[in-house]
Amino acid sequence: MEAFDAVDVIETKRDKKVLSDAQIDWVIDAYTRGVVAEEQMSALAMAVFLNGLTRPELNRWAAAMIASGERLDYSHLSRPTADKHSTGGVGDKITLPLTPLVASFGVGVPQLSGRGLGHTGGTLDKLESIPRWRAALTNDEMYAQMESLGAVICQAGAGLAPADRKLYALRDVTGTVACVPLIASSIMSKKIAEGTGALVLDVKCGSGAFMADLPRARELAQTMVGIGRDHGVTTVALITDMSTPLGLTAGNALEVREAVEVLAGGGPTDVVELTLALAREMLQAAADRIEKTGIPGAGVAPGGAEASRRAGQLRDADVAAALTNGRAMDTWDAMIKAQDGDPHADLPVARHNETLTAEADGYLTSLDALKVGVAAWRLGAGRARKEDPVQAGAGVVMHAKPGDRVTKGQPLVTLHTDEPARFDRARESLADAWTIAPDQPPATSVVLERVA
Ligand code: URA
Repeated sequence: MEAFDAVDVIETKRDKKVLSDAQIDWVIDAYTRGVVAEEQMSALAMAVFLNGLTRPELNRWAAAMIASGERLDYSHLSRPTADKHSTGGVGDKITLPLTPLVASFGVGVPQLSGRGLGHTGGTLDKLESIPRWRAALTNDEMYAQMESLGAVICQAGAGLAPADRKLYALRDVTGTVACVPLIASSIMSKKIAEGTGALVLDVKCGSGAFMADLPRARELAQTMVGIGRDHGVTTVALITDMSTPLGLTAGNALEVREAVEVLAGGGPTDVVELTLALAREMLQAAADRIEKTGIPGAGVAPGGAEASRRAGQLRDADVAAALTNGRAMDTWDAMIKAQDGDPHADLPVARHNETLTAEADGYLTSLDALKVGVAAWRLGAGRARKEDPVQAGAGVVMHAKPGDRVTKGQPLVTLHTDEPARFDRARESLADAWTIAPDQPPATSVVLERVA
């Protein structure tokens, strides 16, 4: 006999009343067990979409999603842990340089990642363009790599927040994705179950992101930071610009190449700026964490001299130097090798390319993230359905970014694909993707706001 009736739970939210803890625990668990039917959960998701959740309801909802699966635990590690999550954007390859950069300072970064769906690329798809690199690690392999290197980017196991896996797929086909409490609880349940002590959120704002405007991005950031804090995870968020793609590439191998440039001390300014900003936040959050909880696996007690010495080291870390002196690159090489990849192998290159040029002289004043993302996807870099393959070499290379001076006929973007039949649809998605005007636009920063 079940404790509740799904229809009562749906009606409670439909009528704008507050769900009890017991109702939330039951409905998430019963849905995961298959007792609450898909059509019932879709009605509840729509009721939440329309009527929202209070903060206590939201925390309980997230807790129930975490409790639907395993929760990893790094307390035996000799390192503090800090992770980053991005809400997804075009050309967002930041995880690739950021993970080894932060790990090179002794912080464990458990990046349990996914594959891409739609116009935003997935971190695993990018790394899988490296010959022989392996995304799937057992929990034991992951813990061992966290201890030895600190840097792990791997596939999130099916055991983490299985309720979210089901619910996210359902929301995708029922018009209930773009809902702050549902997005926030979905992301945070996975990140909290992953076991990190500190978490830095990169909440994207602009055409290429879930949240197109600043007030909505702020609402999502504040909601996620609240869930993290209420679950004992040291959490901060940066709201960052996704009106234009990050860096000069969108596409799997193209982005890996750019990430390696950043690790070699070069790379586009915006990618470097965001990598450094997030690295500083992660090290700061790890330092705060050490002061609060110590490092149990290293015998460092909270509040003592050793905890403050270690926290101070992280706060003083010269992250910019670690990109130019090879320190982060050494950790990248070791991280790729630990998962059977060859960091020095040639990356795949698409068989065909086509270049689009500037139609006038002037300044590039905008380059739309969503349109570039859709073009990369249509060229074969992304997938429309979970089971579709992706092309490693496909994508878009940009030759200019907003603020740059361009001359008529100059290459602006190059499209790469293994299948030339894809060029037409990619070109269509780039119609009106950029503007060229006589005056230089004001310089902008990629980090828009910090939410703590
Ligand atoms: N990413 C997630 O993991 N969940 C959402 O709901 C949206 C984006």
